[in-house]
Amino acid sequence: MDNTEDSNLYDLFQESSTNDDLFMIGTSVDTGFEWQAVDECKEKLNKNIRVVKKRGKIYFNLHWDQFAKVQEMRSIDNIFIVGSVLKLSFCGTDKENDLKLFEHAVQNNIKLEKALNAWKCVTNFLGKIYPTFSEYEEAAKNHKISKNIVEFSASKIRKRGQNPANAKENDVLKYRVTCERTGEHSFESSDVARVIGGELQDKYHWLVDLSMYHLEVLCKIVQNEMITQLRVTHESKHHRNIIYFGPTTLRATICYNLLRLAHPNPGDIIIDPMCGGGSIPIEGGLAYQNSYMLCGDNHTKAVLRSQSNINISCPNSKIDLTQWSVSHLPLLDSSIDVVVTDMPFGKRSGKMSDNRILYRELLLQLGRIVKSTTGRLVLLTYDRRSFNIALNMAGDLFKVTKMLGVNIGGLPAAVLMFL
Ligand SMILES: C[S@@+](CC[C@H](N)C(=O)[O-])C[C@H]1O[C@@H](n2cnc3c(N)ncnc32)[C@H](O)[C@@H]1O
Repeated sequence: MDNTEDSNLYDLFQESSTNDDLFMIGTSVDTGFEWQAVDECKEKLNKNIRVVKKRGKIYFNLHWDQFAKVQEMRSIDNIFIVGSVLKLSFCGTDKENDLKLFEHAVQNNIKLEKALNAWKCVTNFLGKIYPTFSEYEEAAKNHKISKNIVEFSASKIRKRGQNPANAKENDVLKYRVTCERTGEHSFESSDVARVIGGELQDKYHWLVDLSMYHLEVLCKIVQNEMITQLRVTHESKHHRNIIYFGPTTLRATICYNLLRLAHPNPGDIIIDPMCGGGSIPIEGGLAYQNSYMLCGDNHTKAVLRSQSNINISCPNSKIDLTQWSVSHLPLLDSSIDVVVTDMPFGKRSGKMSDNRILYRELLLQLGRIVKSTTGRLVLLTYDRRSFNIALNMAGDLFKVTKMLGVNIGGLPAAVLMFL
């Protein structure tokens, strides 16, 4: 039975509310790779888990003792604990009236305590999540003084908050509210953040801090439904692995999703022939430790960057790196099981006019080195036009079996699969 749905967040939340040990989790996913995240969720948590899939997000319920498994997932980016899912009857034309619905919701319907207690536990926040009003007043006084000092050196202000694990026992929770909105409404996202932020402060006596917050409360509004969620991940998970960045470094989460699409098996030889700073082979070396990674690039600086990243992120994994050109890959015929690569897009790397020749040379080489019946290719490109021309020029070497439209740093791109 397929337990993946495109709606019903409300039902999912209702189910989690009936059991103190059941939590609704939301995670962000690179757009276009949602099914990979659903698959990983079923593989790592429970094959029958009910998952609700939205654009760039997946949601599911899980028992608390399984939370560590979510943190180990590699396809997802940020993790949130859902505190409430509400349906609101906006009038649509009267902004003041519609904003009052949020005030009323925080005062009466949004009960964050269960999610907050879980957030405190999972982030190791030692401070106070339920300070008294006098504790708040005292903290607010000190906060004002330290804020004035910080404002002298505005460049030092961090935009992504502070690690909640660094808080001391007497620290009063600092928070900010952000709002993402889809649909036509009488109000702006900033209005919602302001109104909900104010109501939460009245209710819980927290300190507003837009830059050095411990807790981010994200209100996601889609038409008339609002999901209120608490961000658990202090750093986005896509930041792992790479220390030395290049002009086109791919997120680790995207690398994992590309590799996953190729279904690596133990013992497989996987190559990335245009590896840049090594993000795909490093993720492959960490996620598929029983496979063997081979990678290269024709640019000296890219090879050096890859080597530095490999040395730091996975010094003991099975990754071989070399400088080569895809037009003459020094590999035996029919020796490679899997190819996963991120081809020059012609936007940030390479030129579109060169891509037709480069892509054709690559395809001809891959036709020679990849095992003919069992080999799998997963290729990422922005330049589909050049790729199709190259594919025609390369004859009937490969047939695209699947195509995914994905978003890479704001650019629409395609993942082409030959499986
Ligand atoms: C989109 S970038 C790869 C970025 C990489 N995935 C990362 O995260 O750093 C494409 C790479 O292809 C390399 N490249 C271009 N032409 C090549 C060729 N003929 N042979 C090998 N690599 C080539 C470029 O130097 C560039 O590093």
